[in-house]
Amino acid sequence: MAKNKEQNQANYNMRTRMIDGSYGSKHWEYNHHIVPPMSASCAYRLDNVQRGAEGFAHFANPEDIDSLPIFIYDRLDEPARGMLEEKLACAEGGDIAVCFATGMAAISAAIGVTTKHGDEIVAHHTLYGCTYSLFANWLPRQGITTSFVDLKDPSAFWSSITCNTRVVYLETPVNPTLDILDIASIKKSISDVNATRPKGREILLIVDNTFATPFCQRPLQFGADMVVQSLTKNIGGFGTDMGGAVIASAKYQRDLLLYRKDFGGVLSPKGAWPILVYGLPTLAARMVNQQKSAMKIAHFLEGHPMIEKVIYPGLESFPQRELARKQMFSYDGTFAPGTVIYFVLKGNQGRAQKAAEIFINVVAKNSRCITLAVSLGQIRTLIEAPYSMTHAALPDDLKNAIGISPGGIRLSLGLEDWHDIIADLSRALEETSADPSNYCDGAATAGS
Ligand SMILES: Cc1ncc(COP(=O)(O)O)c(C=O)c1O
Repeated sequence: MAKNKEQNQANYNMRTRMIDGSYGSKHWEYNHHIVPPMSASCAYRLDNVQRGAEGFAHFANPEDIDSLPIFIYDRLDEPARGMLEEKLACAEGGDIAVCFATGMAAISAAIGVTTKHGDEIVAHHTLYGCTYSLFANWLPRQGITTSFVDLKDPSAFWSSITCNTRVVYLETPVNPTLDILDIASIKKSISDVNATRPKGREILLIVDNTFATPFCQRPLQFGADMVVQSLTKNIGGFGTDMGGAVIASAKYQRDLLLYRKDFGGVLSPKGAWPILVYGLPTLAARMVNQQKSAMKIAHFLEGHPMIEKVIYPGLESFPQRELARKQMFSYDGTFAPGTVIYFVLKGNQGRAQKAAEIFINVVAKNSRCITLAVSLGQIRTLIEAPYSMTHAALPDDLKNAIGISPGGIRLSLGLEDWHDIIADLSRALEETSADPSNYCDGAATAGS
């Protein structure tokens, strides 16, 4: 018997599945809408008390429910966000996704449902500044402490694990240094520890997949227990809405939903809708083009006399190129090194910082296609100085030790024509070298 469209879904490529104009969602039957409707109702009419009671019972036991959800109140569940969650789970290869107001709310929830007072986290030493601050400043108040270690080094992993360790947490590629952490091998070490632990005390692996997006990397497939995403970045893609998500196996759904209900950091339907309608469906097309630009620009920077080093997982010179190829690939298996470049201008520490400041300020003043702003993964190319901006929360000596140099520059490629991006970078480098307040070793001639 011929299969219908929904049964056939799995035969289509992910790029198609993120776009298709008709599929049955258990959250809302919208087979006759090409674009799903945006819901805007804080509360839902209930026909009788029994239906209300059934709705609450359903919410508390989501894994038992096969029927259509009974909507009660936006903070519990609502259709637009629910449809986005189905698509996100599919994109990351998880059973479920639960969306939050921001990436940080999603990270807090992932930690909130997996740890309690007295537990310990082992985290890679380089993390997005606010994640670092959450772990270093806020979680200790709840009796949850973190060891920041180099998870590239297996011996650092082993020496940091204690009987109280409950979570191993990492980003890969790491923001902003783009180090790659080997998810499968870290998971193997965790599994070796777990083999000696009682049930319920296993260590869980949580991976922030924001930099890669599910287009470039799917950590669940390498053994991660949970993936967190800032939807504000590449998945949202247009820089108009904030959001976050935790993607995991079904056994975590109940706790994540209950946590979200009680802590309240829920993604609004009006925030979910653009990510569902514009963001996720265009993720693959944007990533392909932005990666192409990233590669062109990384090569340009690498060949420029004013540049000390360029870090981009797609470059031959990238120190962990083999691991990047093993771990970062799109749905069809093509190497997918992402859309962010990190580079440092020439000069010793103090002067490199000065040069970077002058350079970024020139870009901010004169460039049409590169914008000085934090965030990343938008259709606009964004530039920033992580040392003093996004990673300001990390202590200076830690930043210096882990390769976030005062002169480091993060560039997130957008969809502009790459020729224009190179032209703007080239002009800004030339102006930087001509600026009398700057001095760059070995950079007498700029441009190329
Ligand atoms: C790697 C990473 N994770 C999480 C976040 C937090 O996301 P949001 O700003 O949506 O809270 C960011 C923000 O820049 C990030 O870069």
